[in-house]
Amino acid sequence: MADGRAARAAVPTDMSRLARRGILDLPPYVPGKPVEEVQRELGLTDVIKMASNESPMGPSPRALAAIGAALGGIHIYPEGPASELRRALAARYGVDPDMVLVSNGGDNVITLICLALLNDGEEAVTGWPTFSAYEHCTRVAGGRPVRVPLRNHAFDLEAMAAAVGPRTKLVFICNPNNPTGTFKTRSEIEAFLDRLPPHVVTMVDEAYGEYADDPGYPQAVDYVRRGRNVVVLRTFSKIYGLAGLRVGYALAPRWLIALMERPREPFPVNRLAQAGALAALEDADHVARSLEVNARGKEFFYRELAARGIACLPTQANFILIDVGRDSRPVYQAMLRQGVIVRPGGIWGLDTWLRVTIGREEDNRRCLAALDRALS
Ligand SMILES: Cc1ncc(COP(=O)(O)O)c(C=O)c1O
Repeated sequence: MADGRAARAAVPTDMSRLARRGILDLPPYVPGKPVEEVQRELGLTDVIKMASNESPMGPSPRALAAIGAALGGIHIYPEGPASELRRALAARYGVDPDMVLVSNGGDNVITLICLALLNDGEEAVTGWPTFSAYEHCTRVAGGRPVRVPLRNHAFDLEAMAAAVGPRTKLVFICNPNNPTGTFKTRSEIEAFLDRLPPHVVTMVDEAYGEYADDPGYPQAVDYVRRGRNVVVLRTFSKIYGLAGLRVGYALAPRWLIALMERPREPFPVNRLAQAGALAALEDADHVARSLEVNARGKEFFYRELAARGIACLPTQANFILIDVGRDSRPVYQAMLRQGVIVRPGGIWGLDTWLRVTIGREEDNRRCLAALDRALS
């Protein structure tokens, strides 16, 4: 689905009355533009995508080998709970396997927590701009999203605590935040959790957590270990380079995992995904290389953008938000014509900004050259 209007137009008026209440008001997710689409539309062959925060390093060779070895078994249903991967993750984080849920991508964790907790009209508080799935899944479950604007491009935890009311069941904190790359420290999050009433669950989305290198960045699994009402989301889509396989996971107290298991489908994580993720988890060298490339790419953008007088936000993730100082849509289009796909900030109300996934050195250089030309 390319945009919301197209999706709505696809339901004839006389059929729309069949839709469940509220469904037609849901704006469908707008993904980053795929490489194939740009190649087709613009007649280009050499296109790079720096729009969806995928890993420029690709998957670990060990993951590829494990997927290859698992191919012969795909006529057999996968194991539902992904027990081996679950045990490996539990060992990694020092928690019991009952405190881990392996899911069909991190997105699936967001859906499950909403379906598990929200009754009609109950509220989920989150910041804005942030990852749109929190509001989307809240609505799908019949809940009501409560949006609290960011302050200085970061989650305003004071204002979010104040927005929590008797109907609030859930809070979403994206740490580091997509699309701003900002983060909240250990003490800030702890002070926030201390202010919450016991009927509220906080999801800390650490989809980009592995990239965070600030010493003040918290590992939210610590809160889970200490028995807080916290669910941590993590994914194999980013640092592990397995976005196409769709594997994510939740770390949470046993009772929350047990609730999230209720609404989910029988075989959410396919055999190849389980095998690939398990092998990727064990390939520490690949992760280290990916981190190094990201750290160098980050420094490159900071340096080069500063030299041009272009503002950007310091980032704890694998993307960087750049203020081009004018409507970023035409800039995005001009970069697209040069075969570089980035993300214009309009969908988040960040009209003069571009979100750029940090790539390998050659990608970053090409991206910057395309930006220079687009701005000149
Ligand atoms: C903040 C955040 N959370 C969760 C996800 C979901 O990732 P996935 O479903 O690929 O695991 C994404 C994907 O971009 C994200 O940006």
